Amino acid sequence: MTQQEITTKAKEILINNYQEKGFTIPCKGLYPFQWNWDSGFIAIGFAHFDIEKAKSEIKSLVDAQWSNGFIPHIIFHNESDTYFPGPDFHRSDLSELSNKSVPTTGMTQPHTLGFALEKMYEIAENKEDIINFIKLVIDAIYDFSLYFYNFRDPLNEGLVYIYHNWESGTDNSPIWDDIWETINPPSLEFERKDTGHVDAAQRPSKREYDYYLHIIEIAKKYNYEDREIAEYSPFLVQDPLFNSLLISSNASLIRLYELIGGNEYKIEKLKSLTQKAIQSFNNKLYDQELGVYCHYDLRNNKLLRYISSSSFSPLFAGIPSKEQAEKMVTVMMEKFGNDDQYLCASFDPTHKRFNPKKYWRGPVWINLNWLLYHGLKDYGYDDIANRVKEDSIEIIKQNGFFEYFDARKEAHQNSIAGYGGDNFSWSAALIIDFLTK
Ligand code: SER
Repeated sequence: MTQQEITTKAKEILINNYQEKGFTIPCKGLYPFQWNWDSGFIAIGFAHFDIEKAKSEIKSLVDAQWSNGFIPHIIFHNESDTYFPGPDFHRSDLSELSNKSVPTTGMTQPHTLGFALEKMYEIAENKEDIINFIKLVIDAIYDFSLYFYNFRDPLNEGLVYIYHNWESGTDNSPIWDDIWETINPPSLEFERKDTGHVDAAQRPSKREYDYYLHIIEIAKKYNYEDREIAEYSPFLVQDPLFNSLLISSNASLIRLYELIGGNEYKIEKLKSLTQKAIQSFNNKLYDQELGVYCHYDLRNNKLLRYISSSSFSPLFAGIPSKEQAEKMVTVMMEKFGNDDQYLCASFDPTHKRFNPKKYWRGPVWINLNWLLYHGLKDYGYDDIANRVKEDSIEIIKQNGFFEYFDARKEAHQNSIAGYGGDNFSWSAALIIDFLTK
């Protein structure tokens, strides 16, 4: 495939996944609704060739906001029997704060909306039109940022927690194994749908789903009240990827508010929150010995000392010092960057928990690569950034637009080594962005 053919195919995928109601599904069958962080990346892709669809992607997500500023992880705009757990399991109606016009989940996902909106501004040709759109949605996106500091920061340190692994985006990372060891939910009965679409070897196990559903049941028991969740959820984690994207989105909101004028109070508020966040981030999540950032288990008060692609994501938000960045990049290249591997595996390939085929336990993901590319560029590591970009294009060329890919080059030699959903929207969207520079 030439670069032109890749871009044409990528656009076709986005158009096919776009739905009448104005949002884009991540892929057919496996993910038949609107997903929060997917939408941010998808909007960046659409902005290159159909700005109206990019705008409607953001608008349809923001329209599902709850009264406390929270924007959920899945918006069930439509009915579908190809996904579990659906709206009847999540029961957003239990919360008096939930959106009354559309059912959603009661959890969220990493905040991509600030930086996606800024990218849309950069890409859009008609600046007046995009500024009008920014004015329409920016306060809702600001409220989403503020929600975290108001309700997800019990120690008032500028670092926010997630209460479910699905909020992290890195759903079944081996890091969560440590948390699963602290709980023992009963074995539940339910019918999985994902393993009807995708080989079970590429998806989380039945036992992992027991944990996932158990935490949702706890949140439902408290009608999705943040204060009760903070007290009773066995999963309470300060995640470096989640906090990095929040900080990066805040920085974008500051620049966009400066662009549209006024809003001095909001700009000052975001600046002071972000300054405090970066300080706590470096004090609490940076592991000197490992030379990277780690997840902090707030329930059990300990750093989860594992290296994953999330460990490098603070580069995207300008969090590390030059010295820290140098150490991080050294670790990345030593553990993830051998010539026989594509950058960047989602979990430490030298660790015994690494699994090259299973969802977030090892494979390469295009959205993380896109974040790392920009972070590495910002810190002046152009050669490594370009390798991340070239590797991303190469694995798509070899396999097609899958959801995730084997990091081991040898796995691509004689067979397809793209896994999970096919014709996957954010893989398409971000390749368009990579190839349009
Ligand atoms: N990605 C999750 C799933 O696998 C939910 O966000 O269903």
